[in-house]
Amino acid sequence: METVAFNVEELRNDFPILSKKFNGKTLAYLDNAATSQKPRQVIKAICDFYEGYNANIHRGVYEIEEKATMKYERTREATSRFIGAESAEQIIFTRNTTESINLVAKTWGASNIRKGDKIVVSLLEHHSNVVPWQVLAKEKGALLEYINLKEDSTIDLDDFKEKIAGAKLLAITQASNVLGTLVPVKQMTSIAHQEGCTVLVDGAQSAPHMPVSMTDIGCDFFAFSSHKMLGPTGVGVLYGKREILDAMPPYNLGGDMISEVHKWDVTWNELPWKFEAGTSNIADVIAYYHAIEYLQRLGMERVREHEKSLTKYALKRLSEIKGLRYYGPDDIEMRGGIISFTLGDVHPHDIASILSREAIAIRSGYHCAQPLHEELSLGGTARASFYIYNTEEEVDRLAEALNEVRKVFAK
Ligand SMILES: Cc1ncc(COP(=O)(O)O)c(C=O)c1O
Repeated sequence: METVAFNVEELRNDFPILSKKFNGKTLAYLDNAATSQKPRQVIKAICDFYEGYNANIHRGVYEIEEKATMKYERTREATSRFIGAESAEQIIFTRNTTESINLVAKTWGASNIRKGDKIVVSLLEHHSNVVPWQVLAKEKGALLEYINLKEDSTIDLDDFKEKIAGAKLLAITQASNVLGTLVPVKQMTSIAHQEGCTVLVDGAQSAPHMPVSMTDIGCDFFAFSSHKMLGPTGVGVLYGKREILDAMPPYNLGGDMISEVHKWDVTWNELPWKFEAGTSNIADVIAYYHAIEYLQRLGMERVREHEKSLTKYALKRLSEIKGLRYYGPDDIEMRGGIISFTLGDVHPHDIASILSREAIAIRSGYHCAQPLHEELSLGGTARASFYIYNTEEEVDRLAEALNEVRKVFAK
């Protein structure tokens, strides 16, 4: 695909919300780890579908139905190329990363995890990659173990090597949504496979921000969400190795996921439809294609470079603020565009609501990673997270507003 220049000022024009005023000020949207903003190409695709060819897919044979089916399946092909998968049949559309992980826990997990088996996760995990395994482990009498972090917030690979011995499943994030830490999932997958261990990678914070390749990582499952990568909400992706998906029982049961249904028995549909029961989120999957195309035109290497440079600048600006402490690796090569921080003893919710008056959107709280916050003895953090449309000027606004917060609370 032809690439276009990575010109932030120009591409911002594609995002209608970025020119809107809030409290009379332009929005500085720095909560991209929660969800990204959408370009008009994606928004328009949703309208085009409902206005021009709204029909259910994989069913009829009339013109608009065929068009809808073709566009829906085109997104699957594009998703497969985007993550360097072996084939499009290995791409299953779900609602979000959470559902992708739950699908694996409820199908692969239910039929493969037994009493005494070991499931390994890390302390970095989002609740989506903890709770399904915690519940499964309790149901099956399996053990759940957490890989520790080193002082510099990176994964302790020695601890990993000890814990992975004899494990049945490694479920690990590629990028932390709190510390920004990047995890060497390729190396860890290779070590886990030597132990005969299945590997699920949570790519919710990596796939939107850097090049990822399934054939390179070699993992068995990979999960991520459209809404964090310029696409609509309500679309998640689960990639799986073909032989594993083939052997797995289906997830939801009903229409579309069957091949034949008789009074007393049923045969399952082929991949990937075996895992897509009922009417899909057709409009949003179709629109998601335009998000993928948008990112591919920019080039994922350049997306990563932009975020690296912005994060470096932000770390410098934030470290100049008295009383501010940021978390996560100092080495920019080891972190994504996410910075969680505390400011003296000011409550993170107070920081976020004061910044909101300046039309600066950041997140506060546990960010769905309470075990990590407990490990770091933190009652919560404030978090700024960047994407393709963020600028140094927005980082300056953040730093200035944080200085004001500090002054207000020093009084
Ligand atoms: C690392 C990570 N995993 C999983 C999720 C869950 O994503 P979703 O809410 O789209 O299911 C998130 C969302 O923030 C995340 O950051």
